[in-house]
Amino acid sequence: MAFNFDTPTNRLDTDSLRWDTFDHQKVLPLWVADMDFQSPPCVIEALTKRVQDGVYGYTHAPLELNRLIAKYLLEHYHWQIDPDWIVILPSVVSGLYTAVQQLTQQDEKVLLPNPIYHHFKLACTSANRQFEQMQLQLENERWVLPNDSLANLVTHKTKLALLCNPQNPGSTVFTELELRAFGDFCIEHDLWICSDEIHAGLVLDEYKSHIPIASLSKEISLRTVTLMSFNKTFNFPGTGLAWAVAENPKLRTAMQFSLNETIAPPSLFAYTASLATLKDGEPWRQELIQYLRVNRDLIKNTIADIDKLSIGKMEASYLAWIDCSHLNYQNPHQLLLEAGLATSPGSQFGLANFIRLNFGTQRARLNQALEIIRKTCY
Ligand SMILES: Cc1ncc(COP(=O)(O)O)c(C=O)c1O
Repeated sequence: MAFNFDTPTNRLDTDSLRWDTFDHQKVLPLWVADMDFQSPPCVIEALTKRVQDGVYGYTHAPLELNRLIAKYLLEHYHWQIDPDWIVILPSVVSGLYTAVQQLTQQDEKVLLPNPIYHHFKLACTSANRQFEQMQLQLENERWVLPNDSLANLVTHKTKLALLCNPQNPGSTVFTELELRAFGDFCIEHDLWICSDEIHAGLVLDEYKSHIPIASLSKEISLRTVTLMSFNKTFNFPGTGLAWAVAENPKLRTAMQFSLNETIAPPSLFAYTASLATLKDGEPWRQELIQYLRVNRDLIKNTIADIDKLSIGKMEASYLAWIDCSHLNYQNPHQLLLEAGLATSPGSQFGLANFIRLNFGTQRARLNQALEIIRKTCY
């Protein structure tokens, strides 16, 4: 391997959200979703050079950024877009909040999956919008949308459906068939779609690839805002840059709401990091995927040996969604925390009997975590 993911990185005294929340002498913190790896060398070099310039004035997006993103989407996902369909954002989360606020009126409703990354619900509550939850079901070890019963959730007030693909938590990489069914459902009920695809670069399943829902047809594309970023895959969420793709000019205008006003533009370092990734990040990403696959298998094998825990397929990303119902313990997150492992509580995403374990870390640390799980959950 050209890149070494086993080298421990120091995150103490770096104001790391994940490492500073608990006493690191007592608790191994594998919760919030960033990785313990350094970003790719091409990113570090580009940022170092930019820092050494010493002048950090107001900076516009690099002129080639949209063109390179469009090229990337074509090469990686066979998705042909016009660079002008892209709206650059500081983060995917700000895009989620803007989409909910701008694509629905005060008395209109939103559909969202459950369990789900907590900002989906927060985006609705902060905009004072009601939402209905599409309860994901475990089928053949994959968390999938209940396509047959979705229509029951729709009223004439429903205007927007949120999708998370790959799904967090649960890590489903939705298939073309599943996405087409969802797209058809949204067409039938005349719903806008906002698809959060931030985990697209982290598909671990050897037989799956990421399919942007908007790439399936012009009809779907014209009703979809796709949110993407390199923050997760290349591990620089602290610099923060994302983008929305919207073919429909009305949706594009909606996503520009308040940009550069109450929503600040990305920092110049975010432009630098994203551009370096677009140009030279791919070899690192390929090796990251190999490394994460081994971590995934370690977790799968460990959980298979513990009767009281279970887990579905881990098709993407570095977030293991572990079912602890059979532990018969009301708060499995607290149980593990007391044993020295911080996970994310399932209640944060909508299912209290689960925990989410971040395995974007050095293997030695993951083994430590799995040992704690073994001892605590047998
Ligand atoms: C589905 C999903 N969307 C968005 C984010 C956060 O994105 P950003 O840091 O660009 O706001 C996360 C982070 O875990 C996520 O899992």
